[in-house]
Amino acid sequence: MQRTLCIIKPDGVRSNNVGNIVAMIQKAGFRILGLKMIRLSKEQAGEFYAVHKERPFYGELVNFMSSGPIVPIALEKDNAVADWRTLIGSTDPAEAAEGTIRKLYAASKGENAVHGSDSEENGRLEVAFFFSESEIAANTL
Ligand code: RTP
Ligand code: MG
Repeated sequence: MQRTLCIIKPDGVRSNNVGNIVAMIQKAGFRILGLKMIRLSKEQAGEFYAVHKERPFYGELVNFMSSGPIVPIALEKDNAVADWRTLIGSTDPAEAAEGTIRKLYAASKGENAVHGSDSEENGRLEVAFFFSESEIAANTL
C-alpha cells in the first residue's frame, strides 16, 4: 500500500467542489486516512512548496495557497501516487485529459483545484506535514 497527499486547493473549496472531488476519490478506490479543512499561513504554504522557491511562480503560489481554506486528504491505495496523479490530470487544466479533476474543476495552471504528491517518498513526507501518525492510526481502527 502506498500513501499520497491530496490537497483541495483554495479555488476548489471556493467553487464548492469539495464534495465532488471527495466523491471522485472514493469512486476511484482510494482509502481516506485523514481529512481536514485548515487555512495555511504564508509561512506554512512557503514551507510546503519550498521545492519551488527558486521558480518564478513561487510568490504567486504561496499567496494563492494561503488565500483561503484548503482540504488536505491523506490517501492510501496500491500505486496511490501514480493513480492519484492520473486522476487529477496535467498541471495546466487546458492540457488535462477529459474526466480528470483539473479538466472538470480547475480554471488555470496556477489555480488548479488539487495537489498531488510526485513520488512515494514525498507522499509519505507530505501526509506527515498535515497528519500525525496517531491521527491516522485513530482513523484506521
Ligand atoms: P502540485 O504540486 O500542486 O500537485 O502541482 P503539479 O505537481 O502538477 O505542478 P508543480 O510543477 O509541482 O507546480 C506546483 C504548483 O505551482 C503552480 N504553478 N503555477 N503559473 C505557472 O506557470 C505555474 N506553474 C506551476 C500550480 O498551482 C502548480 O500546481
Ligand atoms: Mg508538484
